[in-house]
Amino acid sequence: MADRARNGKVTVVGAGFYGSTTALRLAEYDVFDSVVLTDIVEGRPEGLALDINQSRAIEGFGTRVVGVGGGSYDGTEDSDVVVITAGLPRKPGMSRMDLLETNAGIVRTVAENVARTSPDAVVIVVSNPLDEMTALAQLATGFPRGRVMGQAGMLDTARFTHNVAEELGVPVSSVRTLTLGSHGDTMVPVPSRCTVDGRPLADVLSPDRIAHLVERTRNGGAEVVALLKTGSAYFAPSAAAARMARAVIEDSGAVMPVCAWVDGEYGISGVYLGVEAEIGREGVRRVVEGDLSDSELAGLREAADAVRSKQADVADL
Ligand code: NAI
Ligand code: 2OP
Repeated sequence: MADRARNGKVTVVGAGFYGSTTALRLAEYDVFDSVVLTDIVEGRPEGLALDINQSRAIEGFGTRVVGVGGGSYDGTEDSDVVVITAGLPRKPGMSRMDLLETNAGIVRTVAENVARTSPDAVVIVVSNPLDEMTALAQLATGFPRGRVMGQAGMLDTARFTHNVAEELGVPVSSVRTLTLGSHGDTMVPVPSRCTVDGRPLADVLSPDRIAHLVERTRNGGAEVVALLKTGSAYFAPSAAAARMARAVIEDSGAVMPVCAWVDGEYGISGVYLGVEAEIGREGVRRVVEGDLSDSELAGLREAADAVRSKQADVADL
């Protein structure tokens, strides 16, 4: 296999469904020097890393995955990017918010260890409830706010795109959508920014069908949980987190919907919220403010208020 230039080290904390699929995607990109996969469980990250490494000869990628179990951070030192997936997933009937206290304890411990071992890393949080865990990770690391972001908007936007494409029977590549706000009850799918082959969504679907697709997008995670019965989605979520990590390491400047610190944009301040942001080597370069309808803007401000009050509580968890 021809060797290629690779760059940087990424650690994925939590070797469950989300973490292991993220590690696989990151390794298959073949752009990182190394991918480290860690967990409190002994043996699982090591076994998964060995399994992924054995696939390299078939899939033709060179990046090596290193598995580190037992809650150790040895081998993760000076990572450029850390993806935090540690934490419980929800079960059918549970909301993401039901995970708050348990996952706060886990994310706080992980974030403190990351700050100690990888003080210059960009941190991507995925553990739920996402907006609160992102705020907590920033507090616990003490990192600049732009160096800590959460993954949700890429996933929710991908689900909106899928839903529109399925409704119309068109390829996903014809569809552009956008979802902002929280990764929860105050998610804000943005129909005014959706197009199908360049045509506004409102020109190709009735208001009722658009409302149905918006609601299906809001319930996208629960729809998968209800089918799986145990655990939550991981293929689309891992694709989203891996793309964010890649945008960081390649300093790409890609504009993506992510959970980022908002400081004045849309008239909203002092909250981690799902917005579009330009991503580079330093994390969030800037929040990108786009056009929204009056009701979408009102929805985003409502989401900000709801999330801000919950984020204020996480400092005590
Ligand atoms: P999982 O149960 O398969 O894996 C979680 C892993 O975290 C387990 O292997 C567990 O041993 C590990 N862990 C627990 N405490 C740890 C610690 N202190 N240090 C290191 N590892 C630790 O769950 P899954 O499916 O991987 O989901 C992980 C999280 O991601 C959940 O909170 C879930 O709700 C969330 N999620 C978020 C999404 C998003 O869009 N932001 C989408 C899908 C899931
Ligand atoms: C999801 O949206 C449960 O947050 C997770 O799939």
